Amino acid sequence: MSVDTGFELCPGLVLKNRIMAASGCTGWGDALQDFTDQALFGAIITPTVTILPREGNPMPRTGETPAGLLYSTGLPNPGLNMFLSEYLPHLAHIQSPVIVSIIAETPDDWMKLASDIGSAPGVDGIEMNLTPIQLQICGEEIRRLPSEAEWCTTMHESIVAVRGVYAGPLLAKIPSVTVEPGLAASVVVEAGADVVSVGQALPATAVRANGTRRFSGVAGLSGPAIKPYTLYCTWRARMHVQEPIVASGGILTSQDAEEYFGAGATAIAVGVANLVHPDILPSLLSVSQKSI
Ligand SMILES: Cc1cc2nc3c(=O)[nH]c(=O)nc-3n(C[C@H](O)[C@H](O)[C@H](O)COP(=O)(O)O)c2cc1C
Repeated sequence: MSVDTGFELCPGLVLKNRIMAASGCTGWGDALQDFTDQALFGAIITPTVTILPREGNPMPRTGETPAGLLYSTGLPNPGLNMFLSEYLPHLAHIQSPVIVSIIAETPDDWMKLASDIGSAPGVDGIEMNLTPIQLQICGEEIRRLPSEAEWCTTMHESIVAVRGVYAGPLLAKIPSVTVEPGLAASVVVEAGADVVSVGQALPATAVRANGTRRFSGVAGLSGPAIKPYTLYCTWRARMHVQEPIVASGGILTSQDAEEYFGAGATAIAVGVANLVHPDILPSLLSVSQKSI
């Protein structure tokens, strides 16, 4: 099998090919090591890292539906310090570029994460997870989500703050709800992001026949069910920005990948397919080559 020789996604970030591992879907480098040659990924995006460690939501955290996977992880992660000292060195063994996903609630915390992670050896880029945090953790009563205008203002400020301390490759992962995807793409690029990431899971839940919810907190729906919507988001983002777009959402076959490239994606990120079909990567790589 031949593989791509790589391409520059944005200044300073050369991927091995256009097929990346989506945030959270290959764990911290060990979840897939017995099933997939992770060095074949164009790059790997880590699960989202926060300043303080997070245990994550109570079990169960996942549930299958006929059209996709529900997950409610609550962003479990070791926190900034332990990520840098213990997890990041392990990720370097994968031998694919490493992009670290981060989330924070204040500009100061965004800056701390970006500056410490961005200056660490072995980090090739940063992805800001810009979905409202209430949708990603349990225990937070959701009274209201930010309005579209609030999201635009807050995330613009956060990206500008990050840009003040980090000049490296910066991806901005826009939410699936809260803001029109074309507008979100324009805002993050205008604020200084190099790349727009599209295809966050959609808010979802599962309810038992007795009325109790299966998950505490909000779950995310990933997989084939969201593909038409995430394709729409990709197309909308492409209408608004010239910058590179990394798209995810229900990519399980080479045809799915081709559709995303047709909709305007520059690279794609594969999520649950890694868990369902850990041998999927080689078939997608041929599409990646054709699209160069
Ligand atoms: C188990 C699981 C964990 C995830 N963790 C994160 C995360 O930490 N940060 C993030 O931005 N997205 C996370 N995602 C969302 C994926 O990165 C991706 O955007 C989404 O699943 C859609 O792609 P897919 O349909 O190919 O899975 C996670 C998805 C799954 C299934």
